[in-house]
Amino acid sequence: MSMIKERLLENGEFIEETLEKLLEKERLGSGKMAEAMAYATLDGGKRIRAFLTIEFARLFGACVEDCAYYAAAIEMVHAYSLVHDDLPCMDNDDIRRGKPSCHKAFGEDVALLAGDALLTYAFEICASAPLSAEKNALAVKTLAQCAGAMGMCGGQEIDLLTNCPDYESLKILHYKKTGGLIAAASLLGYIASPLEYSEEIADMIREYALSIGLAFQIIDDLLDVRSTTEELGKPVGSDEKNGKKTVLSYMTEDEADRIAESLSVNASGIFCEMENSGIICSLPEFLLKRTK
Ligand code: IPE
Ligand code: IPE
Ligand code: MG
Ligand code: MG
Ligand code: MG
Repeated sequence: MSMIKERLLENGEFIEETLEKLLEKERLGSGKMAEAMAYATLDGGKRIRAFLTIEFARLFGACVEDCAYYAAAIEMVHAYSLVHDDLPCMDNDDIRRGKPSCHKAFGEDVALLAGDALLTYAFEICASAPLSAEKNALAVKTLAQCAGAMGMCGGQEIDLLTNCPDYESLKILHYKKTGGLIAAASLLGYIASPLEYSEEIADMIREYALSIGLAFQIIDDLLDVRSTTEELGKPVGSDEKNGKKTVLSYMTEDEADRIAESLSVNASGIFCEMENSGIICSLPEFLLKRTK
């Protein structure tokens, strides 16, 4: 098995255990909403965002326990975003991670609340990480900025309401809706490290994350037409069904592949001079070749 696949498995198990503990009944109660929160977060998902948090933390000298709460918080925000994204008023998709989407299993009312509660809980967890109060405050602020009006939610608004006239405007949508959380995940790994925060390093991380974020959404758009529902664990053809503008509204599949590839080459080069950067430098290519 390649080094990166091994690490994905190892980090995946670690984050799954962390999330299971954080979402147990003793903490959240035994109602339907708590059940829906666990349903939407556990047993599925590639855990790419948690992976980024853990690997950026490692790159800058932290151990995986230091960033566990940050990684869990990111996956909770991501899970909430998927619960809401699948709702009938958004993409109206019935399958997520190979099972009925949250509102199909629990009803729209409970799914809406489970999303709200996951988002809120993520900030509690982020603020409770075993790091300094200063680091936790910076992590909370960074996550809020990347997930909110100027980040993921802003991107979702454009996705729903704006008819992007060209690829340049779609790029802004992709940067916000997908790049936002990927940037937060990467930055939170850095914040968890013992290093003093520098804007110069944060900018390098942002460039890496936005490049892979843009490539990630291009591949997501391509898989929506290329893959199968079984393989993806979510409905293919969702974008066409909803009349969504995707990368294929402006170019051929080959051209989209080439853009994703050049973004991933750009990302791979950013940290390649640093010691122990093998995983961070090989992740972009791994994500480019993903089939789900
Ligand atoms: C899906 O993200 C939503 C996008 C931003 C494209 P992922 O493909 O990472 O979904 P999971 O977590 O693996 O289910
Ligand atoms: C990304 O876009 C969704 C979020 C930011 C939550 P999509 O709507 O394309 O994601 P999928 O394809 O449903 O996973
Ligand atoms: Mg969507
Ligand atoms: Mg969707
Ligand atoms: Mg999609």
